[in-house]
Amino acid sequence: MKSTNIQDIPLNKQLFGDDFVWGVSTAALQIEGAHDADGKGESVWDVFSTKKGKIFGGHHHHIACDFYNRYEADIDLIKQLNIKAFRFSISWSRLLPDGTGRVNQAGIDYYNRVIDYCLQQGVEPWVTIYHWDLPHALELQGGWTNRAIVDWFTNYTTLCAQSFGDRVKHWMVMNEPTVFTGAGYFFGIHAPGKTGLKNFLPAVHHAVLCMVAGGKTLRKLLPKTTQIGTTFSCSYIEPYSNKPRDVAAAKRVDALLNRLFIEPILGMGYPELSVLKGMEKYILPGDEANLIFDFDFIGVQNYTREIVKYSLFTPYIHAKLVKAEKRNVPTTAMGWEVYPESIYHMLKQFNAYPQIKKIYLTESGSAFPDEVVDGVINDTKRAQYLQDFLQQVARAKSDGYEVSGYFIWTLTDNFEWAEGYNPRFGIIHVDFETQQRTVKASGQWYADFLGD
Ligand code: BGC
Repeated sequence: MKSTNIQDIPLNKQLFGDDFVWGVSTAALQIEGAHDADGKGESVWDVFSTKKGKIFGGHHHHIACDFYNRYEADIDLIKQLNIKAFRFSISWSRLLPDGTGRVNQAGIDYYNRVIDYCLQQGVEPWVTIYHWDLPHALELQGGWTNRAIVDWFTNYTTLCAQSFGDRVKHWMVMNEPTVFTGAGYFFGIHAPGKTGLKNFLPAVHHAVLCMVAGGKTLRKLLPKTTQIGTTFSCSYIEPYSNKPRDVAAAKRVDALLNRLFIEPILGMGYPELSVLKGMEKYILPGDEANLIFDFDFIGVQNYTREIVKYSLFTPYIHAKLVKAEKRNVPTTAMGWEVYPESIYHMLKQFNAYPQIKKIYLTESGSAFPDEVVDGVINDTKRAQYLQDFLQQVARAKSDGYEVSGYFIWTLTDNFEWAEGYNPRFGIIHVDFETQQRTVKASGQWYADFLGD
């Protein structure tokens, strides 16, 4: 493969080709609000956010960006910014308040309105079935640790396909299983707040079974031309030094963060890691075949890189991340290193799997504190981050790596999970007192870039 000097590429849309998909990504719980409107059931986040000390500043998502009531104006903004694809997720407990059984028609009607309005405006809906908001009723039965979730998830996916499959042509079964199993079932810092390997390991295996069950269900019910994918978070991993134990520690973290979920579905099995030994007891006879699915595309989501050091005292994995703040590098408001090359390396890494047919970058973005001066938000750091990351995507494309689209995270400032409303990721500013939207300089840059 030829290697290109990225300095030589002036960034422009043509570099990516005419078929490249330009989009913006969101998630139901982070934008919709209306947490108990029109028959919606509780999700794990409704319960988790009431627990003391779990969410920054005691924030909650009950109103968020009020997208539930303002979707028309927000989709108008997407159109105005020349963005052609809108990725959003469906709230499971809005359709099925108890997670299974009783259907809430008002929830189905709401997503029908959103999808129809997108199509009327010439914006393509890209739908994620599961972006972390499990119905609380299912969590009461063990949630992701209960193998029955494969049936619950299949029923929910069936309902999504039957309700919206005539108009939605791009589906993503799941958003970032590494994060919701790791943060929600091992570290307990996300809903439902469970901890330890006894929760994490079954959650991992059941999430893989559900990704596959979801993929198969969509393929069975939807037209042949419908594109079915699923998305993965990833960070470019580098060892702290060339010492063999740092190099080995970095490999273990790469396996856990970047390979754990993608490799089984590609037919490669789980990575070999001693921390995963205990998973064997959750793998039942016949499961092997149900871990593999030939997705039409893979969604890759990248924000940063991580530097990894050997650590004797870190249980299970004997490795730790060297925080960006300790490395004297530029960081975002999340404390993540600003490292644009990470997206290039991750595209290269995912391209090395011959089974993957198509890759979309379904999320990438940055949080920085914004200042509103005379009604203007001149977010130069976010605009620069976006351009530098896109430059690296162009570099990957020009080096021959498959990448077919880019979805910026995110449309509006929103509810950033355990961080509440503190980090602002939007290319559109939201005043959470008044719900006023203001396009930031980064949003205007994206619109101009796409409009060229
Ligand atoms: C998630 C989003 C989240 C973003 C920024 C991704 O891991 O899919 O829901 O807001 O990163 O943290």
